[in-house]
Amino acid sequence: MGAGTVTVLGATGKTGRAVVAAALRRGLTVRATSRDPGHGAPAVVTSGGPDGTRSPQATGDPRLSWHRADVVTGEGLADALTGADAAYLIVPNVHPAEVEAVELATRAATEAGVERLVYHSVADPDDARMAHHLRKGAAERAVRRLRPDAVVLRPCAYLQNLLPSAVAGHLEVPYRLSAPFSLVDLDDVAEVAAAALDGRLEPGSTHDLGGPEVLSVLQLAEVAVTVLGRPVSASAVTPEQWRSGPGAGVDGSALEDLLAMFAAYDQSGFTVDPAPLARLLGRPPTTWAQLLTKESS
Ligand SMILES: NC(=O)c1ccc[n+]([C@@H]2O[C@H](COP(=O)([O-])OP(=O)(O)OC[C@H]3O[C@@H](n4cnc5c(N)ncnc54)[C@H](OP(=O)(O)O)[C@@H]3O)[C@@H](O)[C@H]2O)c1
Repeated sequence: MGAGTVTVLGATGKTGRAVVAAALRRGLTVRATSRDPGHGAPAVVTSGGPDGTRSPQATGDPRLSWHRADVVTGEGLADALTGADAAYLIVPNVHPAEVEAVELATRAATEAGVERLVYHSVADPDDARMAHHLRKGAAERAVRRLRPDAVVLRPCAYLQNLLPSAVAGHLEVPYRLSAPFSLVDLDDVAEVAAAALDGRLEPGSTHDLGGPEVLSVLQLAEVAVTVLGRPVSASAVTPEQWRSGPGAGVDGSALEDLLAMFAAYDQSGFTVDPAPLARLLGRPPTTWAQLLTKESS
């Protein structure tokens, strides 16, 4: 277990909070960044809430400090990174400037003398059906060009994305219910992220992180019925229905990206080799039933 200092860039989102918590559990000192640390920052984290996000509570952990930085514009990065041994780079989901943001942060980390850099990518980054995946692929190449020693993590979609709906009793998705997914537990991903920050993963390595089982949304609902002991239904809506419902606040390129993602999911789901995650964890990864049991106890 390390005693180093790590900076988590983009720390207030779903992923960042999980990585901060895992790094603290590993004994690391964490510098977490937000554009507005006074507002969103204390909303961290040692246990997951039923909504699949982290509970808004301050840890009071003296090893956690918050720093103002903007991952997209690069403002504040130098200060947040100076003095850190390692940095975890998270760019906001479906952000059109992912590649530029990754270049900025990679340069800033190198100039600050950060020894280890870990980039949070996605599985199948070169899937041409999804522009935001292609940006991840281009960003990976940018990281590799600037920092060949960087570690790249490529998670599948998280189980936590569907956890709140399952707990609430209804899964509704804008793609076919039979599409296969190897959704992964975000806390398993974060455990690997913390190990990477701690220098336990080979420099320059890239790792696919898929969950241990292939399940459709219909099967996720069936498992949830058994584990929760109450009705959990599943239904598919059309992309147009999603746009005027849950997606009503999304526009521009983010809307296009998400609709393209749903079309790809409808076509072939999203499956990823589960073997690397089990090997990296040194234990079987968390199943959907285990996650539901944990969240409902
Ligand atoms: N969800 C999944 O299943 C999944 C699976 C694989 C990979 N990923 C990847 O994981 C990454 C993180 O996703 P996430 O949902 O956890 O994080 P997120 O909430 O999309 O973004 C992380 C943080 O970025 C900051 N941010 C948001 N918009 C910004 C903007 N316009 N300019 C600058 N900063 C901004 C926010 O922090 P402040 O407001 O505090 O600054 C936010 O908390 C994404 O790249 C996504 O593609 C997600």
